[in-house]
Formats: sequence, structure tokens, C-alpha cells
Amino acid sequence: MVFGTLRQVNDLRYCPVRTHGFRYSDSGRVMKAKLEEMLQVAQAAIEQADCESALQDVRVRFLGKKGEMTAIMRGMGQLPPDERPLVGALANEVKQQLEQIFDSRLEQVRHADIERRLEQERLDVTLPGRRHPRGTKHPITLVTEEITEIFASLGFGVEEGPEVEKDFYNFEALNIPKDHPARDMQDTFYVNDDVVLRTHTSPVQIRTMLRQAPPVRVIAPGTVYRRDSDITHSPMFHQIEGFLVDRKVTFGDLKGILTTFINQFFGRGVGVRFRPSFFPFTEPSAEVDIQCVICGGSGCRVCKNTGWLEILGSGMIDPEVFKSVEYDPEVYSGFAFGMGIERVAMLKYGVNDLRLFFENDLRFLNQF
Ligand code: DAH
Repeated sequence: MVFGTLRQVNDLRYCPVRTHGFRYSDSGRVMKAKLEEMLQVAQAAIEQADCESALQDVRVRFLGKKGEMTAIMRGMGQLPPDERPLVGALANEVKQQLEQIFDSRLEQVRHADIERRLEQERLDVTLPGRRHPRGTKHPITLVTEEITEIFASLGFGVEEGPEVEKDFYNFEALNIPKDHPARDMQDTFYVNDDVVLRTHTSPVQIRTMLRQAPPVRVIAPGTVYRRDSDITHSPMFHQIEGFLVDRKVTFGDLKGILTTFINQFFGRGVGVRFRPSFFPFTEPSAEVDIQCVICGGSGCRVCKNTGWLEILGSGMIDPEVFKSVEYDPEVYSGFAFGMGIERVAMLKYGVNDLRLFFENDLRFLNQF
């Protein structure tokens, strides 16, 4: 093993400090001998260390804070003052030499390690690559897309609106004035007196109608928020709004379009029923039920033994709404509907717990 030439430090001519002819005291001689001996021992230890960690151990043992060098240097105090600089210089010399030997040995060891690994760890370039797992669309996205496609085939375009919405669009223009009791059912987060997290997708009706003149035929999917949280309600959920305005639109059109949609989405032959209801923004209003997809109509826990499941609210757009968007109710009529996406997704796929949609458990999501 070849290191840089090691100067013989016991020959004091090599000390950077002139010591020629200097006569050491007894304690000075002892320290000098100890340093020289340490250098020999350390050098042997460095040569023997055959890996980086062994080498570091040697370094700590000799040059570390609690190492041998420190121990020897404790003797400085006992030296006569004029000897201290000489012994100090010698100690520095020893230290520098050790560092040098150490560094070159470290380089050797590292090099040997790379050589060894190149020898042992051959790279098999014929191994197949690792694939990244592919995600799937979330069931809510799938259902939204499917519903959107069905309505697109019926001539409906898609519009979107903001989730943080003005009170005016979310309530006021939909004929829900400030103190109307209908607001209780749709309590939400108020950003301030005039701005809310939208409670339904109906405000997109207002935004669209303010922007364009009839005829309009639009669906509006999106996220909505309410102060609601239990097994069947989530404070964040999704709806699809739909509306159509033209001359001479009738309740018959509403029934035809919605029945066509239900037949395509749930399958032909599922029973549909229109039940009178109330919404401030439609008159007349109807809730739409489908025959229970679980029991087929004979009655079960899911349909609470009624045989029917409510899937959406609908109605003929109220003339009051037309007034707030400056459509002439004497010339135009239209219908609107709003549907909970989670609800129809649960019915379509037989999911019995709403929370599954939001837990992001891959065992659930991979089934779609
Ligand atoms: N916006 C209503 C809700 O969230 C649902 C609804 C009912 C929408 C009737 C409509 C409609 O467009 O005509 O409860």
C-alpha cells in the first residue's frame, strides 16, 4: 500500500518550528514520544481499515474530540512554558500527516468499493420496466359524464357557474327572498352577507339566461354545499341542473325529456312517477320518483317500503324568475330540473353509503 511519503516526525528537523539543539524537559520528552507512537499506531490502523465506516472509526479514535490526540494534549499544562509551542507544533504536524494518510486511504477504499460493486451488481437491461398504476375516473365523474352525454344527445349544451356565489344568483333571482322559509332548507357558509357557497346548481340558470336570449337548452353539473352532514347527507355534494326555455314549452315537454333520460340512464321499463311538489322557482313543480331499483317496487328498506325513490326536483320556470332575467313570460315558457348526482350514482351502482364516495378508498374506487 503506497501513501504519500510520511516524514519522520521523531526527527525534529522536520518540525516547522526550529528545535535544533533544544533540550526537552522530561515531561516534554514523554509527550513527544507519545505523539510519535500514536502516529505509528494510527497509521497501521488506517492501513488496516478496509471500508469507509471502519476508516471513520479510526479517525474518531485518534483525532475525535474524545480521541487519543486530545488525551495526549491534556499533558500540555504540565510543560514548561517555552516548550509548549514546540510540542504544539509537533502535534499539528502529526495531525496533518494523519489527515493526509486518512484522506488518501479514504479515496482508495471508495474506489475499491465502486470497483467491487461494478463487478457484483451487473445491470440487467432486459428486465421489464415498472409500470405506474393507472388511476380510474371517480364514480361521480363517470355518472356526471354519462348524464351529460344523454342530455347532449337531446340537444343540451353544458354551462358552469362559480361555487362561491352571490346571494342574488343563489337565492334572490330564484324567487327566494331574504326571509323566505325555503332558505332554512339550504343553509350554507356565508362568506359575507352577499356571498355564499352555492347550495344548488340553480344559479347557473340565472347566469345563463342573463347572458343569452331564448331559446336555451342547457345542463349545468357542479359541486354544491349545504349545512348538512349525516349518513345520507354530505356538506359537499354534486348536482346537475337542466333547463329549457323557448316559445310554447309545456309540462308535457318536461315529462318527455325526463322520462327519456331516466329510460336511458336506469334502463327501459323502470317505472317513473311525477309527484306534485313546491319550489319557489317553478310553478307548477313536481318531484320525480323512479321505481325502487333495489326491490323492483315491492317495498324494501331503501325505498322505505314505498316502492319508489325520489331522484330529482323539477317544474315549469316561474314567471318571477323570468322577470329577474328580463325574459318575457308572456312569450316564453320553460322547464327546469335539478338532480343529486351522488343519489343517482348510489341507485345506479347499488352503493349503500354516501360517505364511500369521499373516503378515497381504492378498494371502492377500483370497482368503477
Ligand atoms: N335546486 C333544487 C334543490 O337543490 C332542485 C331543483 C328543483 C332544481 C326544481 C330545479 C327545479 O331546477 O326546477 O333542491
